[in-house]
Amino acid sequence: MNIILLGPPGAGKGTQAARLEADRGMIQLSTGDMLRAAVAAGTPVGLKAKAVMEAGELVSDAIVPALIGERLDAIGSAGAIFDGFPRTRAQAEALDLLLSERGRKLDRVIELEVDEDALVERITGRFSCAVCGAPYHDRFKRPAVDGTCDVCGSHEFKRRPDDNEETVRTRLAEYRAKTAPILPYYEERGLVSRVDGMAPVDEVAEAIEATLDSGH
Ligand code: AP5
Ligand code: MG
Repeated sequence: MNIILLGPPGAGKGTQAARLEADRGMIQLSTGDMLRAAVAAGTPVGLKAKAVMEAGELVSDAIVPALIGERLDAIGSAGAIFDGFPRTRAQAEALDLLLSERGRKLDRVIELEVDEDALVERITGRFSCAVCGAPYHDRFKRPAVDGTCDVCGSHEFKRRPDDNEETVRTRLAEYRAKTAPILPYYEERGLVSRVDGMAPVDEVAEAIEATLDSGH
């Protein structure tokens, strides 16, 4: 199965992709994670993307689909979870081509519906373990022992440079202007399912599982 998780910044795409990896053996393909890795490594792509990401704008359509193509080639026959991709109509068309070239097809697009007012709080409170990447939140998910990662015991944590209120507002505006308008492209093909992203994480995960099991 190949699916897209679609939703604004902070909707829970990464959180739910991790659940699907654990529960279904699918592989998360997050263009945000790929771009952050490129920035950290100082690759040519990273050098182009850094300032754009820090401003909360979208990285060029000339760069992003190639990242997904490389990763798709590496995951063999495992199902793909597209997290944060596609984000424009051009990327949606590029994804169709990348899939068909590899004998894959898109099975479902899951739109996580969320209340925008909650997103700023979700994102500005987010942090993660600097060693293993385990996700935390100032209010919703603190480590059991303050300052110690529950998973690996590390004492180092990090925050994303684009997780501040001003940048979140730009990211939301980019989502509304460029990404939400691709929904009709998938609705025409009967591929879109809507899930309430404001429910607790476990309930969102159950709703996604039910959608994938029933195929609608
Ligand atoms: P990207 O990394 O994709 O960021 P994003 O879309 O802004 O989404 P986030 O990762 O912030 O949110 P999420 O939906 O994954 O939520 P999460 O699960 O973490 O992109 C970053 C940048 O890279 C872009 O701005 C752009 O510049 C560039 N980029 C990436 N892809 C691109 C592309 N295709 N084209 C062009 N440019 C691209 O959850 C958020 C928080 O909420 C967490 O703290 C979590 O614990 C909490 N939470 C999650 N679910 C719940 C729940 N149900 N209840 C309560 N809290 C919850
Ligand atoms: Mg994410």
